[in-house]
Amino acid sequence: MIRPSLMALCFSVAAFPVVAEDDFDFESGFETFEKLFGVTEGKRRNHTKGFCVEGTLTPLDAAIKDYSNSPLFTGTSSVIARVSHKGGKANPADDTYDLLGLSMQITTPDDDLHVIAMNTEHFFPVSTSGAFIELLQAKVAGGDATKAFAAANPSLKKYSEYHGSLDKTLRPYEGTKYFSVNSFHLVNEAGEETPIRFDFRPSGEEGIVVETHPDFFLENMQANIANGGVSWDMVITLANPDDVIDDPSIQWTGEHTEIVAARFTAEAAMTEADGQCDEINFDPLVLSEGFAPSNDPMLEARSLIYAHGVGQRLSEKE
Ligand code: HEM
Repeated sequence: MIRPSLMALCFSVAAFPVVAEDDFDFESGFETFEKLFGVTEGKRRNHTKGFCVEGTLTPLDAAIKDYSNSPLFTGTSSVIARVSHKGGKANPADDTYDLLGLSMQITTPDDDLHVIAMNTEHFFPVSTSGAFIELLQAKVAGGDATKAFAAANPSLKKYSEYHGSLDKTLRPYEGTKYFSVNSFHLVNEAGEETPIRFDFRPSGEEGIVVETHPDFFLENMQANIANGGVSWDMVITLANPDDVIDDPSIQWTGEHTEIVAARFTAEAAMTEADGQCDEINFDPLVLSEGFAPSNDPMLEARSLIYAHGVGQRLSEKE
């Protein structure tokens, strides 16, 4: 049986003119994750530890319809999401600050699919997927190689300073803000395109309410859902004329127009074994009508490596 998410992958590549990065070898890139983190058979090689969240996405500010005719903004969609620790370690501790991820497969009221995969950082350490794999290779090789890579890649210094300045207070998934990092375009009824980035901001119960231990995140989210609700608002940031659109290592700073376009409300959280998120390919190029990819070639690279990853881990389960 072809899974809907994999079918959507095929449609996505055909539907948009996607910009490719010529030198990106997704197979050796994938192996670099394995060399750096090891292999947990049947699991993702990055964002390895996580669990499933199910809920709905409902439209909020109708101002977004001037920019996009996406069905995400016209009715209630159903969501299968996955929250995760960044990195390929099998079991990072929940009770220590870490960078996190939130991915969503959204089924719109007219059965269109829209996929989102976000991280807790505003921007990426390097501008291309090739450079990212080189960075991981340098980490595999050790301290001197990483120093040499940093010396040759000034964006990494900016990222390290940013990372150093992040508030490292321990927060559960539901208390964390997640960023698109890569840019996309909104497309309206008239076919006009507007470059955007977006984030999901906590708007419900978001504190630590159970005793902390290395695996408390699932229990905490279940308690917060029971206590009144876990939700995030999808905030869309319209690009200013001087923003760099297609380089994810450059943060958009200063005043911007933001539209609180929709709310993701979690209705249940469960392990990967009990939920439906484990087999989903959270391919950032699966977009509903009303969205288009930007010309950032990292989107295509992510799409390729995630497809390879889902094939690999599902074959290990057979
Ligand atoms: C060239 C850049 C990138 C590479 C090479 C890369 C690589 C990967 C890989 C190998 C996986 C595991 C996929 C699997 O086995 O199913 C993964 C998952 C993930 N990545 Fe990336 N990634 C990149 C950029 C990004 C960016 C910019 C973001 C966020 C804005 C992001 C967010 C995620 C998330 C949230 C997941 C977990 C998805 C899930 O829950 O299944 N990645 N990434």
